[in-house]
Amino acid sequence: MSKKEVFTQAQLDQYYDGMKKEHLGPLWYDLGHMVTKEPVHDVKPYLWKWKTIRAYALTAGDLLEPGKDAERRVVYLQNPSLVERGLIGYGTHTLYAGIQLLMPGESAPSHHHSQSAIRFVIEGEQAYTAVNGEKTYMERGDMILTPAWTWHEHKHEGTEPMFWMDGLDVGLVRTLAASFFEPYEEESYPMEAPENYSTKQFSMGAFKKLNEEKAPGYPSPIFGYKFERVKYLLDQMTEEDNDPFDAYAIEYINPATGGSADSRIGTMMQKLIPGQHTKAHRHVHSAIYHVLEGTGYTVIDGQKFEWEKGDFFILPPWSYHEHVNTGSEDVFLFSFNDKPVMEKLELEFSEEYKENNGQQTVESTFVPNTDV
Ligand SMILES: [Fe+2]
Ligand SMILES: [Fe+2]
Repeated sequence: MSKKEVFTQAQLDQYYDGMKKEHLGPLWYDLGHMVTKEPVHDVKPYLWKWKTIRAYALTAGDLLEPGKDAERRVVYLQNPSLVERGLIGYGTHTLYAGIQLLMPGESAPSHHHSQSAIRFVIEGEQAYTAVNGEKTYMERGDMILTPAWTWHEHKHEGTEPMFWMDGLDVGLVRTLAASFFEPYEEESYPMEAPENYSTKQFSMGAFKKLNEEKAPGYPSPIFGYKFERVKYLLDQMTEEDNDPFDAYAIEYINPATGGSADSRIGTMMQKLIPGQHTKAHRHVHSAIYHVLEGTGYTVIDGQKFEWEKGDFFILPPWSYHEHVNTGSEDVFLFSFNDKPVMEKLELEFSEEYKENNGQQTVESTFVPNTDV
């Protein structure tokens, strides 16, 4: 006879009701909800068209001015599957992406926060991001770091609207209840370092000034990662470098540690040659993708997401995905992710899709909003 059977139903009901009132729970029923056999999440994939984002960002150009009406002029990507839970500013459960616009002559004042941030330049030139008093000029395709708690500001000295993406670990930091923010006491942090100094130290070789103190690991000694260098590296790659899941791909690193450029946000550029179709895999880390160049689609858990230059899409955690270049030119996909965090916490696992020669069957096609 099992131990359970010595109790009457009425006694059991009383026991479980009493436990609930005392805010206690029976693990023998709930273990499977807490320690799941594989990652459980409520992040759904989504895709935004660049045309739509750009139009809304441009209207914000008439609506408000950064530094006067608002801290920053940014239109952010809101994953509809997460807003239902009141998670504002969530692209994935850990990552945020926003599109920032600066009009000619405008600036966004200096501040710092405990969220890590990266920038990826979409359109325009002659604007800079200054990190701890060093200006890095931004050009299309460049990735710029503003590591957690570094002072940063932006200024546009050019003549056309300047758009870039901000990528932050908003969801992660909120979950960890670790958000701090502080504006600098003046609009601008003192510009102490030569322009583009850290980028040039490494992109032109590897040098430092005599007696210059460089912190050994954090933050990265480089703030600006030029697209022309990334493209050069990708174009040098041979068939041996062609990854079955990620095609020709580079990760941006911190040269002082060899690890991820930002310690919490991973950054990657993938190149797919015309006709290339990768195999599918899934991993614990999630990502937000931006299409720098080209046309094609990504299949995420059987759903097809067609994209073109400028579009953004969400790759949820633990979701099978494969990428296809359907155009006649190379595709360049930039993405940022929470992989460094998963790796540091020893939570990163990946798995290849084994059926159907590693490629999924397309069951549905995502239809983006195209009201604009
Ligand atoms: Fe910021
Ligand atoms: Fe992947």
